[in-house]
Amino acid sequence: MTRLRLVGTSWKMHLTSSEAAAWFAALLPAVAGLPGERELFVLPPFTSIWVAREWLAGSRIAWGAQDVHPDDAGAHTGDVAAPMLADLGCRIVEIGHPERRRDHGEDPALIARKAAAVLRWGMRPLLCVGEVGRGEFAAVAALLADDLSRCLAAVPAPDRARVMVAYEPAWAIGAGAQAASAEHVARAHSALHEWLEAWSANGSIPVLYGGSVNATEAPALLAEPAVDGLFVGRHALDPLEFARIAWAGLPRPLEALETARGGSS
Ligand code: PGA
Repeated sequence: MTRLRLVGTSWKMHLTSSEAAAWFAALLPAVAGLPGERELFVLPPFTSIWVAREWLAGSRIAWGAQDVHPDDAGAHTGDVAAPMLADLGCRIVEIGHPERRRDHGEDPALIARKAAAVLRWGMRPLLCVGEVGRGEFAAVAALLADDLSRCLAAVPAPDRARVMVAYEPAWAIGAGAQAASAEHVARAHSALHEWLEAWSANGSIPVLYGGSVNATEAPALLAEPAVDGLFVGRHALDPLEFARIAWAGLPRPLEALETARGGSS
């Protein structure tokens, strides 16, 4: 039985353009032959999106961005608009990550406008939602539903099936944290799916898990039926670790194993 699973990474504020090129050079041989049931995507910083395009154009791996301004153009020094990202071939744009909410005070009203901008330009918004601290599950589920309804308030009905969601509990993200248990993730994803199915009138909106994912935890997380994929941060800065996560739970051909060990070029 095969089921489509998405495995993506945001590099956050890591890797220069030169380092990005080296990352792609190492990744591509390590994921050659990855079956079609796994789809990969990479969200570099704005400064390396062009590098992603150079390396990934013509491949099955999508690329995108970690943020976007809600307006299509204007006097907004330092910001980047959705048409600029679409022009670079971006297919996915992350919005609402807890680090942007924390560092830039982004609220659901702004995130909703960003979702609309991404969809207007033919790309898919990857909306991050999640509780900040650990809490009772009923309270977490209520918070997730409230955040979804506010962040997705501006999405017109015909565009709803193009939305992607990442469950990102802030307590499980970043150095020193550990991934949430597969059991907790399954429960949260089921609640998210239930809300999204009622909202979109179909069951096709993927829900990815993000928060300290590594190659050791990935197989158990991907084995959960409610987990449609993984969204990887710091552990993907090593391209071979990202490749291991991409292959998690799948039989891996010898050449890919050799590449991951550094045994062949
Ligand atoms: P992390 O980041 O894997 O480094 O915890 C995940 C994320 O923020 O999406």
